[in-house]
Amino acid sequence: MVGIFDSGIGGLTVVKEFKLKYPNISFIYLGDTARVPYGTRSPEIIKKFAEEDTKFLVSKKVELIVVACNTVSSLALGVVKKTSRVPVFGVIDPAVKKALMVTKNNKIGLVGTRATVNSKAYSEAIIKRHASMLVPLIEEGFIKGEEIDLFINKYFKDFKDQVDTLILGCTHYPIIKKEIGKYLGNSIKLIDPAVEVVDEISNLVKKTKHPKENYYLTDINQRFLETARMFLGEDISNKTEKISFK
Ligand code: DGL
Repeated sequence: MVGIFDSGIGGLTVVKEFKLKYPNISFIYLGDTARVPYGTRSPEIIKKFAEEDTKFLVSKKVELIVVACNTVSSLALGVVKKTSRVPVFGVIDPAVKKALMVTKNNKIGLVGTRATVNSKAYSEAIIKRHASMLVPLIEEGFIKGEEIDLFINKYFKDFKDQVDTLILGCTHYPIIKKEIGKYLGNSIKLIDPAVEVVDEISNLVKKTKHPKENYYLTDINQRFLETARMFLGEDISNKTEKISFK
C-alpha cells in the first residue's frame, strides 16, 4: 500500500494522477488539514509536522511514501526517510528533471510557498517567486472566479516574457492549472509535479485485486470534501476519517 501526504488538499493532485495511472493499487491519503498551511512556517516546525505525518503513515504499514507536498519535499525529505525506512519519493527532482527536458532557452521559473522558495532545494538558476495567498484560497474552495484570478495576476505577472517553463512548485497550484494557463498563455509550459512523481514510482507499486483507498484528515470540514469532489470528480466523504496524532 502506498502512503501519500500533504498539509491539506494539494496532495489530491497526486492522488488524481495516481488513480489514473494505477487504478489497481491501494493507497491511503493523509491531509494535515488542522495545521495547513505549512508553507508559511519555519523549517523546524515543518520538520516536526513531517515527522508526525510520517509516523502516522508508518502506523498504517505503508510500503512506499509519496511526499505530495513541495514544502515538505524541500525542507524535510530527510526526516521522512529517517522516520519511515521505506522508499520515499518527493516532488522536487521529478519536476526539475521534466522542466530541464522541456525548456528551450533554459529560463525556468518556480512558483511555490514561501518556505519552499526560501529553502535551498531548487537551483540558483531557477527564477523563484512565492504565492502565499493561493494555498488558503484553494483550501477555502476558491478554485475559479475573480478572487483566484486577482491573485494569479499578482503572482504570475513577473514570469511573463521571463521564462519558457514554469514549475508549479506547490501541489495545491495544479488544482487551478487551467486558470494559470489561461493567464500565462501558450508560450509558457507548466510543469505539474503530481504528474511527474507518479511516473517515478511505476516500478515499485504492487497491483491488487481489490484496491482500497482511504483518506485521513486531521480536521474535516465540508469545504475540503466539496473541493475534493469538484477536483477529483467523486465524493470521498464515506472513505474519509478524522484522525489525531498521539
Ligand atoms: N501543498 C503544499 C506544497 O506543495 C503545502 C502548501 C502549504 O501547506 O503551505 O508546498
